[in-house]
Amino acid sequence: MNAQKEKLESEIAAYLKQHESKSLLRFITCGSVDDGKSTLIGRLLHDTKLLFDDQLAALTRDSARHGTQGDQFDYALLLDGLEAEREQGITIDVAYRYFSTERRKFIVADCPGHEQYTRNMATGASTADVAIVLVDARKGLLTQTRRHSYIVSLLGIKHVVLAVNKMDLVNYDQAVFDEILEQYMALAQQLNIDSVTAIPLSALKGDNVILNSQAMPWYSGPTLLEHLETVEIQATASQQGFRLPVQWVCRPHQNFRGFAGNIAAGKVSVGDDIVVTPSGVRSKVASIIRGDKEVNEAYRGHSVIISLADEIDISRGDVISAASDAPPISDQVAAHVLWLSDAPLMPGRGYWLKLATRTVSAQVSEIKHKIDVNTQETLAAKRLELNEVGYCNLSFDHAITFESYRDNPTLGSFILIDRQTNATVACGTIDFALRRAANLHWQAVTVDKQARSLIKGQTARCLWFTGLSGSGKSTIANLVEKRLHALGHHTYLLDGDNVRHGLNKDLGFTDEDRVENIRRVAQVAKLMTDAGLIVLVSFISPFRSERDMARALFAPGEFAEVFVDTPLEICEQRDVKGLYEKARAGKIPNFTGIDSPYEAPTDPEFHLQTVDASAEVLATRVVDYIRQK
Ligand code: ADX
Repeated sequence: MNAQKEKLESEIAAYLKQHESKSLLRFITCGSVDDGKSTLIGRLLHDTKLLFDDQLAALTRDSARHGTQGDQFDYALLLDGLEAEREQGITIDVAYRYFSTERRKFIVADCPGHEQYTRNMATGASTADVAIVLVDARKGLLTQTRRHSYIVSLLGIKHVVLAVNKMDLVNYDQAVFDEILEQYMALAQQLNIDSVTAIPLSALKGDNVILNSQAMPWYSGPTLLEHLETVEIQATASQQGFRLPVQWVCRPHQNFRGFAGNIAAGKVSVGDDIVVTPSGVRSKVASIIRGDKEVNEAYRGHSVIISLADEIDISRGDVISAASDAPPISDQVAAHVLWLSDAPLMPGRGYWLKLATRTVSAQVSEIKHKIDVNTQETLAAKRLELNEVGYCNLSFDHAITFESYRDNPTLGSFILIDRQTNATVACGTIDFALRRAANLHWQAVTVDKQARSLIKGQTARCLWFTGLSGSGKSTIANLVEKRLHALGHHTYLLDGDNVRHGLNKDLGFTDEDRVENIRRVAQVAKLMTDAGLIVLVSFISPFRSERDMARALFAPGEFAEVFVDTPLEICEQRDVKGLYEKARAGKIPNFTGIDSPYEAPTDPEFHLQTVDASAEVLATRVVDYIRQK
């Protein structure tokens, strides 16, 4: 994946060098599966005579093999790079193509139209100046047209070309075009897309792609290529304050420390006053290196190494900015989140958030609402499913530097990464900081955890019992507490069933409610540990993610996971509360082990197998461990 990305970046760099003096337009094409995107791009490449000879030869060969256009070239084959895609007849990844004309050079991201690949669409769209939204003249606007247009507006692409394709199949009828245009303008208005240029065309026959169509004398606007060559794109971000997200700190020898990265906005000159965020430390630019040369100034898009007048502590993920115009920092923001994973987003669960060069631990603290991408209606939501967009509050473990996406796409967009699988599960755009946290400060107190534990003659800790319902968690936890108490320890047992009678009374057993259940009890356990107690938590706590989150709240060594391992069959045989029987009869939905998952611990401090030993013996093991420590 990375090698592929590097190859792509070096290809782009080589291409840009070749055409340095011309302005660059990045665009994406999107639409539904059979709207003809690939054919259109193939046509653009072919008719601008920029097909490389060898590509052309391969095309003739492939057209004969796979083509769906009889004896003619199948332009779509040019773009569908992967064999598997050809076999399926759909495009499943973003294909980047480069071409140029006398007036401009172009990079086009061909985005997939298949329902499941919204992720690729978002990838391609994040850097584009123009989006070509293709619509099949026979079909009009489809769900995907609406979804893709929504993403286009979410990612702030300013210009949309509504390409009404396959006009040849509707007899080049103006009425068809007008009707689609009217529908689309209504959508564009809802989505706040200001600039729409509509062009009737046939990618297959070439009408209005490069040359004006003879078949549509009623259309007097530009052809697609004319439009792409002339549409004005603003370079807003270079007028903004200087921003350099630090990628790495470079220290070739004792006397030099440089901060490397790609300038995300503005301009920097030697001697400029700068501020580093989130630390707030200030200094001056001492030197700027670009490539292998020292330069006096550098701009947005340039990769540079800068050194500062003062020795200050800066690391990867910090942002160096113009001192007069520092970006905001916060540990809470409001953002749009586009969910890209099959497993739903759950509020309260911890994810990695990567924004520019910074990675922090983050949670979606609240889904304000989700947005129906077809109608733009806002709907109440407790979770987000694949391809859904939600407006959410996020909170981070540390304050980070960011900007609103509107002001700066680089510092305003992020991805969320699953902590267990490392997969990218969402992308998002930041709206603004939530002020609440900015005005809250941690209050220092004189009597601390250590003082409180000392007076109790013990070390505060948290013992976290996890296991299926009926596995024996509560029985063993109860025995452990009884013995510790008898030995003069100060303890408290938080039991799932009991806490659900009070503090967590409002929660049920859906995945998202369980996540919240564990979040709350973990926080309570942390407070109790802070009070100097030995806290026993006995909750099913079925998800690894939340148990890891709980662990992360504690100091090293303070938290111990106790896996009470009893096979499902045995829990079910015992069925002390009669719940398994009811669950099997379909009377209790989402029952752990039956129709709701249990993710067993992979590396617990204690693995108690209840089949081989009595509860007393197992409890003794835990007590002995605590006494030894
Ligand atoms: S957890 O999954 O959110 O950690 P918790 O430990 O608080 O669960 O509560 C589990 C207890 O609730 C079980 O011991 C059982 O008595 C009861 N219960 C009721 N419905 C369910 C259900 N659908 N799944 C599991 N336990 C349930």
